[in-house]
Amino acid sequence: MKEHMRGPVVGLLWWILAIPSLHFSFCNGNSTVSCIAKERQALLRFKDDLTHPSSWLSSWSSNDDCCSWDGVVCDNFSGHVRELHLQGSCTDYSDLMCNDYIPKLGGKLNPSLLNLKHLNYLNLSYNDFGRIKIPNFIGSLRSLRYLDLSEANFSGVIPQTLGNLTSLHYLDLRHCYRISLSLENFQWISGLLLLQHLDLSCVDLSQSSNWLQMTSMLPSLVELHLRRCQLDLPFSLPGLNFTSLAVLDLSANNIKPLMPNWLFGLTGLDSLGLRSCDFSGPIPNGLQNMTSLQDLDLSGNNFNSTIPIWLYNFKGLKSLDLGWNDLQGPISGDIGNMTSIIHIDLSYNKIEGRIPRSMGGLCNTKFIDFSDNKFGDISDVFRSLTGCISDTLETLSLIGCQLYGSFDDNLGQFKNLQELHLSVNSIVGPLPWSIGRLSSLKSLYLTDNQLNGTIPEILGNLTKLEELYIDYNLLEGIVSETHFANLKNLKILGASDNSLIFKVSPKWIPITPSE
Ligand SMILES: *[C@@H]1O[C@H](CO)[C@@H](O)[C@H](O)[C@H]1NC(C)=O
Ligand SMILES: *[C@@H]1O[C@H](CO)[C@@H](O)[C@H](O)[C@H]1NC(C)=O
Ligand SMILES: *[C@@H]1O[C@H](CO)[C@@H](O)[C@H](O)[C@H]1NC(C)=O
Ligand SMILES: *[C@@H]1O[C@H](CO)[C@@H](O)[C@H](O)[C@H]1NC(C)=O
Ligand SMILES: *[C@@H]1O[C@H](CO)[C@@H](O)[C@H](O)[C@H]1NC(C)=O
Ligand SMILES: *[C@@H]1O[C@H](CO)[C@@H](O)[C@H](O)[C@H]1NC(C)=O
Ligand SMILES: *[C@@H]1O[C@H](CO)[C@@H](O)[C@H](O)[C@H]1NC(C)=O
Ligand SMILES: *[C@@H]1O[C@H](CO)[C@@H](O)[C@H](O)[C@H]1NC(C)=O
Ligand SMILES: *[C@@H]1O[C@H](CO)[C@@H](O)[C@H](O)[C@H]1NC(C)=O
Ligand SMILES: *[C@@H]1O[C@H](CO)[C@@H](O)[C@H](O)[C@H]1NC(C)=O
Ligand SMILES: *[C@@H]1O[C@H](CO)[C@@H](O)[C@H](O)[C@H]1NC(C)=O
Repeated sequence: MKEHMRGPVVGLLWWILAIPSLHFSFCNGNSTVSCIAKERQALLRFKDDLTHPSSWLSSWSSNDDCCSWDGVVCDNFSGHVRELHLQGSCTDYSDLMCNDYIPKLGGKLNPSLLNLKHLNYLNLSYNDFGRIKIPNFIGSLRSLRYLDLSEANFSGVIPQTLGNLTSLHYLDLRHCYRISLSLENFQWISGLLLLQHLDLSCVDLSQSSNWLQMTSMLPSLVELHLRRCQLDLPFSLPGLNFTSLAVLDLSANNIKPLMPNWLFGLTGLDSLGLRSCDFSGPIPNGLQNMTSLQDLDLSGNNFNSTIPIWLYNFKGLKSLDLGWNDLQGPISGDIGNMTSIIHIDLSYNKIEGRIPRSMGGLCNTKFIDFSDNKFGDISDVFRSLTGCISDTLETLSLIGCQLYGSFDDNLGQFKNLQELHLSVNSIVGPLPWSIGRLSSLKSLYLTDNQLNGTIPEILGNLTKLEELYIDYNLLEGIVSETHFANLKNLKILGASDNSLIFKVSPKWIPITPSE
């Protein structure tokens, strides 16, 4: 989103820098422009209809220069209000959606906003408007280029008057936190010829059968997000013309069982999200021409083939998520061709065999989750991952992978590893001394293995460790306070179901994490 904002802002800065003499000549050396009285009145009336529990709008008072009020941005030359940043804040953003947020505003939206004739940016996201409808008058804010009403607890049918906002570049109406919006006819969207970014995720589009034709006619569209929209997807549709589309997310739409073949023609995409669409059978070969993809998410379907060989040739791919399918067979050594990969998730499949040695050469990789598959000897896994990958890897998750054998000193090479998750395997033998070299480690899960011997004091070197689970193993011996003396950040220790003896003086107080 930031990227789309940068364009106009940078453009304006350039313009200001390019003509400094003009700037000074009409501002008499003082570029401070105070706000326009009529616009200040409009903002005050707008405020009157809002509830603002955090008294966030206390700077909005009748005396002040409204251009200095919180959330208000004026044009530096004319003094007109150009932007209103009135969003709340998302406190838990994961999985491409906001799972919790703190609203700043509620109440009603007063049409006095119509007096802000130069308003081109309005952000009311993450607020709580108590399920009112999106008011029709928003469609008359003709100067708007950016309109963000996402997760603001609106409900009902989205007004067609938004089709009058012909300057819009960015429209976000996503409502996933509480699904409450719907859209019946997409016709009006086709007039938004400048629209680049459209997000209608979790808006009920089950009644709008023409969404595909209408969005494909938007000549400037770069990003289209339609997650969980109850879409009805035609399998085949000739003449689609998404000329500039780069990002498409159709996840969670029950498109089953076959991937629509018009998708295969979108070979210019950078990012394709088809998570949880109930696809089954093999990963379709039709995707093989999408070689410009940087981000592919096919997780949560029922794909049951091997990983197709052409996929390893996607040299620009940075993020690949094939988790939660029924994929089978080994990982091919050709995976070493995916030289751009940063994030790879193959968890919860039926993949088995060795981790190819070529993965060691994936020098950008930070995240690997291969949990719940079947790989062999743990020392073989770490041997395969030595190479430049051991300098970059931050997360390695191999929970429930039927790993056996014991650790060797290759473990010590992963200096940037922050999360190492190896629970529910059959790893035997001692914790190696080399574990003390994993100086970035924050989270170590070794629950439910057959580790034996004593806990090496070198564990105390892992000063960043926050979570340590070594429960359900065969560890023995005495654990003393010296083990923990330097673990200043440790918050969780799970060590039950071993034969450990905790021998600490009664006066010992574990250091509480500094936070
Ligand atoms: C210039 O700006 C300052 C505050 O930045 C203000 O106090 C002053 O009145 C302004 N002068 C003119 C001539 O507008
Ligand atoms: C307007 O001026 C302020 C303060 O000098 C500056 O931070 C801001 O970037 C300017 N806005 C634009 C759109 O140039
Ligand atoms: C609106 O605010 C939210 C929360 O700060 C932000 O994530 C989003 O990018 C903003 N929308 C626009 C169009 O800038
Ligand atoms: C949305 O509005 C309804 C009705 O006022 C209210 O019950 C609910 O708590 C509000 N907030 C969210 C986040 O849904
Ligand atoms: C545009 O606004 C006019 C009134 O100003 C309204 O009659 C018309 O329906 C609107 N058009 C759309 C596409 O919403
Ligand atoms: C697709 O759109 C481009 C640009 O708008 C146009 O030149 C081209 O003819 C269109 N193709 C089809 C098949 O509609
Ligand atoms: C994959 O799933 C399809 C359809 O569900 C089934 O017909 C086929 O036998 C499965 N193939 C394998 C290799 O399991
Ligand atoms: C992929 O591209 C090749 C060569 O351009 C073409 O022959 C083939 O039909 C394309 N496959 C798909 C599924 O579009
Ligand atoms: C991977 O690269 C090698 C060497 O360039 C090449 O021989 C092989 O065909 C590539 N694999 C795939 C799946 O494209
Ligand atoms: C443990 O930390 C000490 C002091 O920081 C350091 O000298 C030693 O090399 C570390 N041991 C290992 C195995 O990394
Ligand atoms: C730990 O387990 C390994 C393999 O099962 C065994 O060879 C070794 O003797 C055990 N060591 C201790 C200290 O129990």
